[in-house]
Amino acid sequence: MEYWSIEGGRPLGGTAKIHGAKNAVLPIMAASLLVDRAVLYRCPVLTDVDAAARILRALGCTVTRCGETLTVLNTEGVCCETLPEEPAREMRSSILFLGALLARCGRARLSFPGGCELGPRPIDLHLMGLARLGAEIREDGGFLDCRVNGRLRGTQIALPFPSVGATENLLLAAATAEGETIVTNAAREPEVTALAEFLNTCGADIVCDGDRIRVRGVGELHGCAFAIPPDRIEAATYLCAAAATGGEIRVEGVCPAHLAAVLPFFEEMGCRLDVGEDTIELAAPRCLSGVGCVRTMPYPGFPTDAQAPLMAALCRSEGSTLFIETIFSARYRHVGELLRMGACISTDGRTALVRGVGRLHGAGVACTDLRGGAALVVAALAAEGETRLCETHHIERGYSDFVPLLSALGAEITILRQEEPHFV
Ligand code: EPU
Repeated sequence: MEYWSIEGGRPLGGTAKIHGAKNAVLPIMAASLLVDRAVLYRCPVLTDVDAAARILRALGCTVTRCGETLTVLNTEGVCCETLPEEPAREMRSSILFLGALLARCGRARLSFPGGCELGPRPIDLHLMGLARLGAEIREDGGFLDCRVNGRLRGTQIALPFPSVGATENLLLAAATAEGETIVTNAAREPEVTALAEFLNTCGADIVCDGDRIRVRGVGELHGCAFAIPPDRIEAATYLCAAAATGGEIRVEGVCPAHLAAVLPFFEEMGCRLDVGEDTIELAAPRCLSGVGCVRTMPYPGFPTDAQAPLMAALCRSEGSTLFIETIFSARYRHVGELLRMGACISTDGRTALVRGVGRLHGAGVACTDLRGGAALVVAALAAEGETRLCETHHIERGYSDFVPLLSALGAEITILRQEEPHFV
């Protein structure tokens, strides 16, 4: 078993260069099914990206990586319409291949995605939208079987909730559909805009105007080279780690506008911020202040993915902070682990009240999910003594070079291996 040993209590300092965004690269990898060649610059090294590459290979593509550049070649055309089960189960966002496969082959089969560590993850909005575009969807022995007679047809789709994944699936399906598609109440996350930009670079005709997206279907798309935008959640996580440890950090290669709902909280916590064109510098006080209330919302609101790392930073603050999680029903699973480190947090359904404590102490804790795992690292860096963190594979889904980068910022963090205990 692998675990990370973190010796806390050292202020972080230095520069963190931010990688390409996980949640942008995954839908763009699905979109590469629609073109003969996609060259993706600034592609982060993540296990979720590996899973998406395995899906593309099983569907007939050649995927190669050279440093941060990922190339997807699809010259022979897609050879299979069934998503391979193992990588698809590993990565819930494999549902994004549905829209692209339907557009490319007129048929797609995948095993029904179950719930995940964040609670039930329904796909009703994806299926409703694809059906509106003309797909016939059947459930068949745990499989979803989707077909379309001829080409998908553009139409008007009003989403009841601005789902990121459903909006992305609709863009993938509508880009080469016949006629015009209008999606209203669409998600506005920067990762959705990045997908639209990638598709436009490939010859699509997509205009994002707030929560309304207009897609004029084109007959065919062509290959392109595209740089993945920076990961706003990775940047927020490093800022939280610096704030929690009373450190001073510069994050480089970010888009500060994407963090507009997050940065004011650091100022309320008492940090000094200096925001440049693609840099953010943060200097933290010795003791952070509570920030009143943090409510997660669809973009441009406060991102649910930054909730857990911010909560971890606020555990050692003066005063209280109320978190209200409106996006996912089970996104406080890290709280139980933070309590083991001496935090004072009470949860009630969608709310969590953090009462700041003077000190956190190291403990043996387990990552519950990707962002919850990152939150435990933030808390461990701020805690006194050693924290032993297991189930770190969750973190590797979404943070490139996490341990080396934290070490370069002055963290004392070591990857260790322990034999599984033998019971006689
Ligand atoms: N929902 C439905 N029906 C649907 C789709 C979604 O009820 O058909 C509900 C979900 O159950 C959830 C809410 O709508 O309660 C939001 O889901 P959304 O579809 O917006 O999220 P997603 O596409 O599944 C992406 C990110 C998540 C991020 C959310 C919200 C990717 C690969 N994943 O998920 O990222 O939290 O948007 O911003 O883009 C993460 O990176 O840690 C992560 C979980």
